[in-house]
Formats: sequence, structure tokens, C-alpha cells
Amino acid sequence: MRTDSINILAISGSTRKSSSNINLIKAIALLTAENFSVSIFDGLTELPHFNPDLDYGQVPEDEKVAGFRKQLRDADAVLICTPEYAVGVPGTLKNAIDWTVSTMEFSKKPVALITASTAGSRGHQSLLGTLLIIESKISVDTQLLISGIQTKLNSDFHITDEDTLKKVNQLISALTSIVKGEIQESQLLPAPLLN
Ligand SMILES: Cc1cc2nc3c(=O)[nH]c(=O)nc-3n(C[C@H](O)[C@H](O)[C@H](O)COP(=O)(O)O)c2cc1C
Repeated sequence: MRTDSINILAISGSTRKSSSNINLIKAIALLTAENFSVSIFDGLTELPHFNPDLDYGQVPEDEKVAGFRKQLRDADAVLICTPEYAVGVPGTLKNAIDWTVSTMEFSKKPVALITASTAGSRGHQSLLGTLLIIESKISVDTQLLISGIQTKLNSDFHITDEDTLKKVNQLISALTSIVKGEIQESQLLPAPLLN
């Protein structure tokens, strides 16, 4: 790892032991070993259930929540890889993101979102909307839906599907450009309209 590596905090929406999303993060860590330093956030299931009464400024900050927020603040970029559950975003992941709404750790943070699932489009759109409304910096190239993930990745953390590998490499390169400030604001995805 080089000292000028880009620090990535990776979060898997699946906490399953042999999760394909965790394996995908590991595959991306291997692909980017020269330029990225990837830490996987492993505290998703330990965060308390979000409750505004327990949020920042109301009571002393929960230690686990404080740790999560700090890891987000310290990261140059965040990589989220997640399945879709019941056509939505996995609850543990949404719970973690809800803890950042008032403290705005995602605001202006370069983010890559990969939904790697059996299908996944509805969960992907939902999470993309959430991340954009909390001001994450995401371009069309730093979001990717990989349907049928089970057949596209092997247990040695290699992406075996050529087209998926190409798209993941494009995502890595686009995320790098956002971190380096090579992307204009106008090239980023806008926050969804609320009505
Ligand atoms: C509770 C539950 C709900 C699921 N719902 C969906 C779904 O709505 N859409 C979908 O594409 N896959 C769904 N799946 C299948 C997951 O996409 C698939 O198991 C995926 O590989 C899980 O990711 P992981 O390997 O990282 O755990 C569901 C799985 C579970 C356990």
C-alpha cells in the first residue's frame, strides 16, 4: 500500500458470512491494491436501532455510532455493496445510514454504490435516492447494478464475468476521478426531487 493511497471505507449491506457483497468488496480491494486502501466496516449489526431521541446533540453520543461516524469522516470515499432485500434496502444498512443524516458524514463524500443481488433494481434506486438526498457525490459511473451476482464472482474474490469486471473497473476509475476533484459538480447526479 502506498502512502498516497485513497482511503476507502467499504460497507456491505449483507452481514452474511459468505456474502457475495463482502466477497465483491474483497475483489475490488484486490483490483485496486495499488491505489486504494480499503477498510471494511464490520460494525453494522452492532449499531443501535436509530431513534432521533438518541441522536447527536440530544444525549451523549453512543460509542458505536461515534466510531462509525468517525470512520466515515476519515475516509476519502465510501464504497457500498449491497443486496436487495424484499425489493428494498437491507434494514441494517438503512439503519446505519439514518445515523448519519443529522451529522452529515455523507455530505460531499465521494460514494460508489453497487447493488449486487439476484435482481436488485428497486433496492438500488431507493438507496441511490437516499444517498443523493444526503448529498453524497455520485456520478452515473459510480453506481452499478449487478444482477445475478451469484454467477459473476468466484470464492477467490475474482469477478469472473467479463462485462461486470469492465463495469467495476469503470466504477473504480470514476470514483478515483471524483476523489481527485477531476469531476465537475455538473457531472454528478442531482438529488431527487421531493414531492
Ligand atoms: C430476506 C431476503 C430477501 C431477499 N429479497 C430479494 C429481493 O427483493 N431482490 C433480490 O434481487 N434478491 C433478494 N434476495 C436474494 C439476495 O439478492 C441474494 O441472496 C444475494 O446473494 C444476497 O447477497 P449476499 O450474498 O451478499 O448475502 C433476498 C434474500 C433474502 C435473504
